[in-house]
Amino acid sequence: MENSKNNICAIVAIGDNFEIGYNGDLIWHIKEDLKRFKSLTMCHPVIMGRKTRDSLPKALPGRTNIVITRNPEYTASDSLIAHSLTEAIEIAKNSEGSEKIFIIGGGQIYEDAFPLLDSLEITHVYDTPKETDTYFPKVTLDDWVLTEKSEIFETPDGLKYDFESLSRKKTKP
Ligand SMILES: NC(=O)c1ccc[n+]([C@@H]2O[C@H](COP(=O)([O-])OP(=O)(O)OC[C@H]3O[C@@H](n4cnc5c(N)ncnc54)[C@H](OP(=O)(O)O)[C@@H]3O)[C@@H](O)[C@H]2O)c1
Repeated sequence: MENSKNNICAIVAIGDNFEIGYNGDLIWHIKEDLKRFKSLTMCHPVIMGRKTRDSLPKALPGRTNIVITRNPEYTASDSLIAHSLTEAIEIAKNSEGSEKIFIIGGGQIYEDAFPLLDSLEITHVYDTPKETDTYFPKVTLDDWVLTEKSEIFETPDGLKYDFESLSRKKTKP
């Protein structure tokens, strides 16, 4: 449930069946999606799993990068390290831009964080990739309200996608 100070938001690109990754990498590389990711997350803390961090060339600039690992010896000079999701969220709450904290993947971290999420920024790619091994948890409109949905865009090579913002339904106290 959302607390008044920090909105915890997962940002993710998913296929028709919640596919998000394959072989340690993203499935799609859509320029407009990367631009939107940058503009939404800029100046806010971003929390990611160690494998997602390893898939990036360096920490995301202009944002506090928090990497979750079980490895006590893991270090990254450009990121803060946490050994649990709870620890990562505590670090994020004390970082610049903490009114919104982004969970940026991958599959294990989305799964762990899912019960704590207040909002979702989804890029829905209208695709059912054959090669996929990582998924986002299933989102149903029983628990979530669609607050914004863009028009459907198309990449130069014909891949259709849209942007969808959702908020978790408030449960009665
Ligand atoms: N479509 C999208 O928007 C999107 C976004 C991000 C990532 N992805 C994709 O997702 C895939 C990566 O996801 P993934 O599930 O394989 O890996 P991941 O979630 O990025 O990272 C997993 C790692 O996080 C650490 N970890 C997980 N749970 C933990 C816990 N409870 N306590 C401490 N550490 C914990 C472990 O690191 P150690 O092994 O170091 O202990 C684990 O190996 C890639 O294919 C990537 O491209 C897609």
